[in-house]
Amino acid sequence: MKKITIGESSFEFKKGTSMSDLYDFDTVIPFQCLKGRCGRCLVKTNYGDLGEITSKEKKLLKRLGFSIEEHRLLCQCTLEENSEVLPVLI
Ligand code: FES
Repeated sequence: MKKITIGESSFEFKKGTSMSDLYDFDTVIPFQCLKGRCGRCLVKTNYGDLGEITSKEKKLLKRLGFSIEEHRLLCQCTLEENSEVLPVLI
């Protein structure tokens, strides 16, 4: 099992689980489209491995003006290693 920490909350999932599964939990992430289109699940990554960044993420992050080195769209991520993120409200 791998752990993702979002602010004060932590959740455990099997390695490789899509982080869109967090939609079913009470998190501070305001998921909406779950397709990498709206940017509502934008997070700043503190550490960890959330899988390969997708071209869809790169495109939207660039359009929103956020760096791809420190930010992800959580709905497009998979949990590969213990990770910590902070929500970014846009
Ligand atoms: S929920 Fe819309 S981009 Fe992730």
